[in-house]
Amino acid sequence: MQITFSKPAAPKSGVAVAFAYEGCKLGGVIADLDKASGGSVTKAMEVSRFDGKPGKTLTLITPAGLPLDRLVLVGLGAPEKLDELTVQNAGGNAWANIASVQAKSAAIFADVDAPDGMPAGTLAANIAFGAVLRSYRFDKYRTKEKKEDKPQIGKLSIATVAVADAKKVFTPMEAVAGGVFLTRDLVSEPPNVLYPESYAKLLQELKEDGVKVEVLGEKEMTKLGMGALLGVGQGSIRESKLVVMQWNGAGKKDQPIAFVGKGVCFDTGGISIKPAAGMEDMKWDMGGSGVVAGLMKALAARKAKVNVVGVVGLVENMPDGNAQRPGDVVTSMSGQTIEIINTDAEGRLVLADALWYTNDRFKPQFMVDLATLTGAIIISLGNDHAGLFSNDDGLSEKLTAAGKAVHERVWRMPMGDDYDKQLKSDIADMKNTGTRAGGSITAAQFLQRFVKDTPWAHLDIAGVTWSKKDDSTVPKGGTAFGVRLLDRFVADNYEN
Ligand code: BES
Ligand code: MN
Ligand code: ZN
Repeated sequence: MQITFSKPAAPKSGVAVAFAYEGCKLGGVIADLDKASGGSVTKAMEVSRFDGKPGKTLTLITPAGLPLDRLVLVGLGAPEKLDELTVQNAGGNAWANIASVQAKSAAIFADVDAPDGMPAGTLAANIAFGAVLRSYRFDKYRTKEKKEDKPQIGKLSIATVAVADAKKVFTPMEAVAGGVFLTRDLVSEPPNVLYPESYAKLLQELKEDGVKVEVLGEKEMTKLGMGALLGVGQGSIRESKLVVMQWNGAGKKDQPIAFVGKGVCFDTGGISIKPAAGMEDMKWDMGGSGVVAGLMKALAARKAKVNVVGVVGLVENMPDGNAQRPGDVVTSMSGQTIEIINTDAEGRLVLADALWYTNDRFKPQFMVDLATLTGAIIISLGNDHAGLFSNDDGLSEKLTAAGKAVHERVWRMPMGDDYDKQLKSDIADMKNTGTRAGGSITAAQFLQRFVKDTPWAHLDIAGVTWSKKDDSTVPKGGTAFGVRLLDRFVADNYEN
């Protein structure tokens, strides 16, 4: 969606959106129109349940004394409590409202008085950001959907008294939204379309944003000794791939930071096959890799001053005559051997080699991996926090703070030798599963065996990658949870 910012001018027709603070306080052009009409908008708010609180909206059809077809009012809450997230949510709610009434165009009036501490341009940019994030749709396969049934607005004009400031604040946000959309596209694609090879090819498009992209195939990975990753993909007719992305936005000598993603394009469970019900969800078992790709796009698009490596292990976990068996022993790139107990615990096998490779080749300042790794994290934390596991308190604190700031929250989980013991094997250096007790933690313990002493954090995003309900800035479906979080984490801590 195309966003433009312009100076406020009284609307002459059509659909308008305006914002109101708690107590139904309007501002800017719409407040003027209200006064000129003898307070008809204020009266309408008073006789409705609308109170200007966050999350509330009110639609007035042909409001008396105003030249509009429709006026949508969106609550911002108390001005002293206004923060960027509240404003983004209001922008998202505004979008949802005008999209649902099939408006062909709409003018958004973000010229409500900005409270102390939030410049007018920042307010307008955040309205725009929220609206854009909410406007995401994945409808390319719906051939019978009538054009009239789709939202028809392609352009949004946002009125603000601080046009230049709004543009400046919005520019990096637009880059982040582009990353979010890429991630949502990737997790939404069906698994017959998005498989390791087609996925790797798609990622080559990041070159247009200035990202260096290399693709390793099975031949190269065999040479490197990536027996853990390759074992997962061996039952698939699709060739496994490892994609290495680099964005070098800082000086040549700056040690890079690294993000590593689980890219299981479809997880049947393999020979330890999953039950049929809900298995289609396993198309988004590449969610971690999708976030890494979206993050790389966002950082490159906003020309972040940092050196970043993104590595994704792309495989398909299938049952087949050639598939990996429970009982197999594989040798990882690290040299450590792994007894496969359950072929459905495949994500950690992919990450074991991807993490080792990343650490070995790039010697990064730290590594953060993302993976839809365990069902157990959904039991622990539900759908509102990702699990955070780390060997580094500073890194954990930074990730937690960034998560709070963008409302992609993470919750740190414990780790330790007592959990690690569960991975002892009688025949190899370790097993790939522990017991059911603490299943997300033993998965993290497994990963830790492949990071040496490098500061490392693992985000188990199984519960937050896909949403069954619309949220203000996140329509149901792929959430891209992690892109905004890590973008903020990088911006706040690693850009020079
Ligand atoms: N991809 C799954 C985890 C998952 C479950 C993601 C639900 C999203 C929603 C993972 O590969 C898996 O199968 N994990 C097993 C591990 C077990 C075999 C130790 C699990 O969680 O049951
Ligand atoms: Mn699995
Ligand atoms: Zn999986």
